[in-house]
Amino acid sequence: MSTKRISDAMEKALNDQMTREAFQAQVYLSYASWAEVNSFSGIANFLYKHMNEEREHMFKILKYINDRGGETKIEAIGAPPENPSDIKDCLEKILQHEVDNSAEIDKLVNQAHEEKDWATFSFTQWFVKEQIEEESLINGLLDKYTLASEQKEGNANYYELDKDLNKAPQSAEIPREEKL
Ligand code: FEO
Repeated sequence: MSTKRISDAMEKALNDQMTREAFQAQVYLSYASWAEVNSFSGIANFLYKHMNEEREHMFKILKYINDRGGETKIEAIGAPPENPSDIKDCLEKILQHEVDNSAEIDKLVNQAHEEKDWATFSFTQWFVKEQIEEESLINGLLDKYTLASEQKEGNANYYELDKDLNKAPQSAEIPREEKL
């Protein structure tokens, strides 16, 4: 067993975040299943893929805790929330989940700074960037939804939106990294 290089408090905070990422995966899984049974197979596909992203986040934190000489505790994951009422509600809800998650990541960054735990501070920067990308990605999908729903020509536009989301990437370019 390696020497423990994180504080007990940081180990707990990281463990809580790991469980939160597992919960995020549950949310995407449940919304994906809802979209699938409502015939939005493209949106379902996007959400299923994003579930895997969240599980990767969970695993990244698990490995970090263990690599720093801590010990990850696998804990119960809460039940996902109620199904969304429609696609707009679905996208707004996942955006809110991401915004809430960003706030939790910020708390970890603050804690690392306060503890002068520069290794964890550096580790959490990856998540800060990831959250910027994820918020931007979901905001982009909401914009597409608005455009698709403005034209009100039956379900044809939703059909196009669904096809589009099927091919949507799992992360967004963040503006400050775009080349001019
Ligand atoms: Fe792991 Fe979507 O935040």
